[in-house]
Amino acid sequence: MADAIISLDRNLALDAVRVTEAAARAAARLIGRGDEMAADQAAVDAMRRGLNALDIAGTVVIGEGERDEAPMLYIGETVGTGEGPSLDVALDPLEGTTICATGGPNALAVLAMAEKGGFLAAPDTYMDKIAVGDGLPDELVDLDDPPATTLAKLAKAKACDVNELTVLILDRPRHEELIAKVRETQARIQLIRDGDVAGVIATTRLNRTVDIYMGIGGAPEGVLAAAALRCIGGQMMGRLVFRNDDEKRRARAMGVTDLGRKYTLHELAGGNVMFCATGVTDGAMLRGVSRLPNGARTSSVVMRSQTGTVRMIEAEHDFSRAPARVGM
Ligand code: FBP
Repeated sequence: MADAIISLDRNLALDAVRVTEAAARAAARLIGRGDEMAADQAAVDAMRRGLNALDIAGTVVIGEGERDEAPMLYIGETVGTGEGPSLDVALDPLEGTTICATGGPNALAVLAMAEKGGFLAAPDTYMDKIAVGDGLPDELVDLDDPPATTLAKLAKAKACDVNELTVLILDRPRHEELIAKVRETQARIQLIRDGDVAGVIATTRLNRTVDIYMGIGGAPEGVLAAAALRCIGGQMMGRLVFRNDDEKRRARAMGVTDLGRKYTLHELAGGNVMFCATGVTDGAMLRGVSRLPNGARTSSVVMRSQTGTVRMIEAEHDFSRAPARVGM
């Protein structure tokens, strides 16, 4: 364990940012081009190249999918030079492929690392999630509470009225009932088209644009968001949601024994964790990649659970000097 703690050190955190910067720069070349697959592939290629240059013996736990469906950065793929410490890796080279393809807000390149066994090996199913930011009483949220109960507790903790709270929900037909129940409480709702990793982070002190995240999104994104909250502070609970028996079978094959289990924040992302993200398109937390006469500017966040340090990193990349031109 001591080895792993040392390995998630400051230098690795900064190296990891270079990986998300590269993925974001590569995806940014395809912003608004309407080609989700091309944008994703560009980000995947760049992230994989960057990861394989890191001195780690990494194993992808949350990745692009299972081996039979994802040729690169699949679950179980080993990444890094193999020279360094053994770590588990959770990644999404382009979180918000549709956002990027349509030029919307909050597309990110995301990478998290943990000590071995730190991340829930979540299958590529959905997850019901509830998350709030830092500085609130412990165990404030529970997936089994009705929205009215959760929002009453949150309003009390924040010393405000329920109608002053903003709930962030993915805009999906599956959330019709949830939206109706939240509206009954008079709380405000912000509906987003995509990007619930940024959505969960929006509940924290990093941007405080909303008070709580509720609803069903991707399970891998749930683990990534949990890694971020472990570093910033916040509370989250997740429960896998299955659409069919095949998804249940996949979950069991990945070691999930209790399909209805409610996962706590530490069960989603436990031990020492590092999280970093670079903006692809502009968002509330990070600016997207912008073009400079000779290169590009990126905006990233990197943080570690061990120290709670949150670093915002603005970088200017000079393509006339950089050896590899992987981005815009
Ligand atoms: P992708 O980048 O894989 O397209 O994910 C975008 C996203 O909006 C996630 O942030 C979210 O968790 C998930 O899709 C929701 O899934 P769906 O679009 O099927 O409702």
